[in-house]
Amino acid sequence: MERFVIEESRNLSGTINVSGAKNAILPVMAACLLAPGKSVLRNVPSLIDLKTMAHLLRVIGARVDYEKGSMSIDSRDVCYGEAPYELVSKMRASIYVLGPLLARLKEARVSFPGGCAIGTRPVDLHLKAMEALGAKINIEHGYIHAVADKLVGADIYFDKSSVGATINALMAAVFAEGRTRMFNAAMEPEVDSTIDLLNKMGADITGKGSTTLIINGAENLFPVEMSMIPDRIEAGTFLVAGALSLNPITVANCEPEHLRSLLDKMQEAGCEFEIEGDRITVIPPARIKPVNLLTLPYPGFPTDLQAQFTVLMTLAEGVSFVEDTIFPDRYMHVAELNRLQANIRMERNIAAIKGVKELSGAEVMATDLRASAALVLAGMVAKGKTVVSRIYHIDRGYDRIEEKLNSIGARITREDA
Ligand code: UD1
Repeated sequence: MERFVIEESRNLSGTINVSGAKNAILPVMAACLLAPGKSVLRNVPSLIDLKTMAHLLRVIGARVDYEKGSMSIDSRDVCYGEAPYELVSKMRASIYVLGPLLARLKEARVSFPGGCAIGTRPVDLHLKAMEALGAKINIEHGYIHAVADKLVGADIYFDKSSVGATINALMAAVFAEGRTRMFNAAMEPEVDSTIDLLNKMGADITGKGSTTLIINGAENLFPVEMSMIPDRIEAGTFLVAGALSLNPITVANCEPEHLRSLLDKMQEAGCEFEIEGDRITVIPPARIKPVNLLTLPYPGFPTDLQAQFTVLMTLAEGVSFVEDTIFPDRYMHVAELNRLQANIRMERNIAAIKGVKELSGAEVMATDLRASAALVLAGMVAKGKTVVSRIYHIDRGYDRIEEKLNSIGARITREDA
C-alpha cells in the first residue's frame, strides 16, 4: 500500500493544470452503451475509477481502449446486461449502466450498491424513475433486476435533487416512447455534459441547466466524439491550495463558471482572484477570515469540496461552521485534521472549526476520495512532516496529484508503506 510523505510546503508559485472531470466521464462512458459503434472521448485522465468503469463495460461486451487522454468505446457487441458485485462494490457509479442497459437490452441486473465511507447512499430515486418508465424492478440475491417489454415516456418527480438518479433516468428515457418530463432534476455541470453527449448522439432533450428536463423518445442513437469538461472538484482543490499558499498560483484549464460558489466563499475568506478565460489566479489573504458554509445541490457549494474548504477554515482567525446537507455523515476527515492539531468540534452534523495559528505534521489516514485530498492540503500547511496512508482513495479521482502539486512547489513523495 502506498502513502504520501508531505513536507510543509506553503511557498507555491506557478500554474497547475486541471484534468477532465471524473464525475462527467463516468456517466458518459455508460451512455456510450446506447449508441452501437465506436465513440471517442477526449480529455480523459488516467484514474482508477475510470479503469473500473472500463472494466465493467468490457464485462458487458464493449471494447474499451485508452491512449494518451483519449478513450474509445465500441459498444456494437453489447449483449450481456449484468454489473457484478465485485465491480459495483468497488465503485458505486457502476449503477450508471442500469439505465442504458435497460434502454438497449430491455433487461439489466446490477448489484445493489452498499453504503460507503461518506454514509448510507440509497438508490431509491434511480429505481423509482425506471419504474415510472415502465420497468419492473425486483431486488433478488443482492441484485437489482430490471425488465421492460418497452419503456414509455412518463412524468418523473424527484423528491430530492440527485445527480446520479437524474442521469440514470435520462439514459433510460432516451428511447422511451413519447415524451418524458423530469421535475426537480439535478443541474450539476456533469448532468449538462451528459445531455450534450446524448443530444450529439441524436437524442432530443431540452431544459438543460434547469430543474425540468423534457425528453422526446428517439429511435436510434449514433456514436460520437466529444471532449470532456474540466474537473471542477480538482480545480477547487487546487484553488484552496492557492488560498493556503504564501504566493499567488494560477489554476489553468478550468471552467470558472462551474466554480462560482467556491470563489464566492473563498472571497469571503479574504482571497482575491484574477480570472482570464479558463485560468484563475488566486491571491491568498494575509489573514484568513472565518466563513460559514452549507453544502447544497448545484449551483450551491459542492459537498465534494467541503473537506478541502474545512482545511482552509482550520487556519482562519475565528470560528466557522460547516454543515453538509447532502451527506450529513461526511466528516471522516475531522478526526484526522484534529490529529494535525486543528480544533474542530462536531455539534450534531455541523463542524464547528476554531481557527488555530498553525497545524502540526502527524500520521493520518485517508478514508475517502475528497477527505484524502483535504489531508494532502493540510499536510502541505502543517509544520514538519505529515504522512498520509491509504492514498489509493486519492488515485481514484485525482490524476498524479503529487506530481501536479510538486510542479508548483509542493514537497510530496509517494512511497511504499
Ligand atoms: C454524485 C457524485 C459525488 C457527489 C454527489 C453529490 C459521481 C460519480 N458522484 O454522487 O461525488 O458527492 O453527486 O454532488 O458523480 N439520494 C437518495 N436516493 C437516491 C439517490 C440519492 O436519497 O436514489 C440522496 C443521497 O443520499 C444524497 C443526495 O440524494 O443525500 C444526493 O446524492 P446524489 O446527487 O445522487 O449523489 P451521487 O450521484 O451518488
